[in-house]
Amino acid sequence: MTDMTVFDVLLWVAFPYVAAASFIVGHILRYRYDKFGWTSRSSQTYESKWLRWGSPMFHYGILGVFAGHVVGLLIPREWLYFIGIDEHTYHLGATWLGTVVALITIAGIVILLARRGAVRRITRVTTVMDVVMYVFLAGALVLGTIAVIQFQVLGEGYDYRGTVSPWTRSLILFQPDASLMVGVPLIFQLHVLCSTALFLIWPYTRLVHVLSVPVWYLFRPYVVYRSRDDHRGARAIRRGWEKSPVIESKHPKQKQRVGAGR
Ligand code: HEM
Repeated sequence: MTDMTVFDVLLWVAFPYVAAASFIVGHILRYRYDKFGWTSRSSQTYESKWLRWGSPMFHYGILGVFAGHVVGLLIPREWLYFIGIDEHTYHLGATWLGTVVALITIAGIVILLARRGAVRRITRVTTVMDVVMYVFLAGALVLGTIAVIQFQVLGEGYDYRGTVSPWTRSLILFQPDASLMVGVPLIFQLHVLCSTALFLIWPYTRLVHVLSVPVWYLFRPYVVYRSRDDHRGARAIRRGWEKSPVIESKHPKQKQRVGAGR
């Protein structure tokens, strides 16, 4: 067994569990106490030309990265052998597909960040928490991509499925084994630590919107609009402009138009 220090246990056992607890409890608290703040705080109304490119690139890219992590970290290699994916096939797919989706995601986030910096109205609605979140998000992306390019594309290849992957599963199964992470190359370690920090702060950022993908939107009935005035729908439609009905308020001078201010 690899020599371990208290520091290793703090980094590879305590820190991930603190981050996981923060992720779960933080989401519950945020939902209970800040339901109306549960939003991506979209900036589409301020600028949409660049967003139209940056947002799909980032989101489709990150979905690819996520899928790659599920296969590489959570599925033991023996299971993949069983369905015919041997070591060579896995590494070919993981390296090339992984690199392509990683570069698309990074190009997307570069566009999103450049736009945030260049468009004044978006810079002004950017909070301190947004900046902190972007540092860890971009950090995780860049460190992961450097690790893959340095070791898998240009180097001999690093067998993370013998270390990082079983370590991830050991945490999920509540049988943490910090020794698996001790000899891992620094760039992979930094990638994992940066990602763990991202999970820790996740619920207190706009990333909460990831948990509210509007799946039910596909199945719910259409929104039905009806006139407020029962009689209006029944009478014949006249050509041309029509005055909107005016409601008399308590104060005779203040008349209110129906629909005004919406
Ligand atoms: C603690 C959780 C995480 C672990 C243990 C982990 C581990 C790894 C490992 C082992 C690789 C190498 C994969 C390969 O060679 O194919 C990798 C690559 C990568 N990771 Fe992570 N990762 C984690 C979280 C994240 C997060 C949250 C992000 C994004 C914000 C991310 C983004 C990337 C990217 C972009 C790559 C480059 C290759 C690819 O697209 O898969 N990782 N990660």
